[in-house]
Amino acid sequence: MSSTEGGQARHVLLTGASSGIGFQAAVQLLQAGHHLTVLCRDSSTADRLRHQLSSRLQTTLCDLADLASIEACADALLAAAEPIDTLVLNAGLQYSGAAEPRWSAQGFELTIAVNHLAHQALLQRLLPLLLQGTAPRLVVTASEVHDPTTAGGKVGRPAGLADLAGLRQGPGGAMLDGSAFHAEKAYKDSKLCNLLMAREVERRLRQQGIFLPVLAWSPGLVIPRGIGGFFRYSRLQNPIGQILFALVARDLLRLTETPRGAGALLAGLATGSPPSPAGFHYWTNRVLGPGRLRFEASEPSAEARSDDLARELWTLSAQLLGMAPEQGLQQVIPRRMP
Ligand SMILES: NC(=O)c1ccc[n+]([C@@H]2O[C@H](COP(=O)([O-])OP(=O)(O)OC[C@H]3O[C@@H](n4cnc5c(N)ncnc54)[C@H](OP(=O)(O)O)[C@@H]3O)[C@@H](O)[C@H]2O)c1
Repeated sequence: MSSTEGGQARHVLLTGASSGIGFQAAVQLLQAGHHLTVLCRDSSTADRLRHQLSSRLQTTLCDLADLASIEACADALLAAAEPIDTLVLNAGLQYSGAAEPRWSAQGFELTIAVNHLAHQALLQRLLPLLLQGTAPRLVVTASEVHDPTTAGGKVGRPAGLADLAGLRQGPGGAMLDGSAFHAEKAYKDSKLCNLLMAREVERRLRQQGIFLPVLAWSPGLVIPRGIGGFFRYSRLQNPIGQILFALVARDLLRLTETPRGAGALLAGLATGSPPSPAGFHYWTNRVLGPGRLRFEASEPSAEARSDDLARELWTLSAQLLGMAPEQGLQQVIPRRMP
């Protein structure tokens, strides 16, 4: 590996690098000399990113809304056998305000399919490569809205998975808890899943005697200027409301993080800043007042700390993905010699 100013260059594999926080993180990681593989939904996105970011960028096609595409992507990465030093599961979507659910290729509600199921599938398939990496670490982008006691989490219907009756139903279940479809809650639930999945994989690895930092984090509210970005689907539902929301939250009250600032936090987590010992850690970008945010270690919600729920979610999700719950955790391939 070549070295960067701050130390060793890392091989970082990142989902959701084509836009917003992940894009900004990719810019900064490449500038710092790290080696980056990004998973792109389609070839035009991959071409655009190589052109915009760097010819050094490695891209692999992966539509997270299609398990067959994830399978093909994981097969290609495993065949290439390049160890991953940091796996960053960052892609995500929400379509708040929509009355009807949208579906993945396999018939799962789209928010849960992309934000949660796709990432568990990737994680289980790519763990053997991650565990061959140098000082491996896993980073998962969650959100404070998973927590019904936070400012963002208490607006509207709160996150809550109940007994996972909807997930148990499999394809066609609109909500994980079996309730009627609610787009905003589906997003909050998916972010709760991100935390539960991160905690559970760390616990399972620890049980196998494998210790690594597993970092879940919340970037704070990030509302980019322009028409793209995270709120693009919600804007279709309620254009005026979303413009007003951006004006008030970002420009008037200044409660938001910039995409560049959030990208810097993600790039830092991917490369060891702030330093984190092995174990699960949750970091949140807390709003202290207008224009003032502080990135600090925090506790996830009470539900996100439930070991039983984490175990159940992992097992059920693996079954729906056609995987054994222990897949990936027991396939530690010995590190290749240089
Ligand atoms: N923005 C916020 O206020 C906020 C707050 C808390 C947490 N977060 C979390 O931060 C993460 C990044 O969000 P962001 O603000 O950077 O949003 P963004 O600009 O909309 O970026 C989302 C990324 O996910 C990718 N993605 C979505 N569906 C995909 C699919 N089917 N296949 C492959 N890639 C797919 C997008 O790719 P395409 O370009 O191909 O669509 C894009 O690269 C998400 O997990 C989000 O939940 C955001």
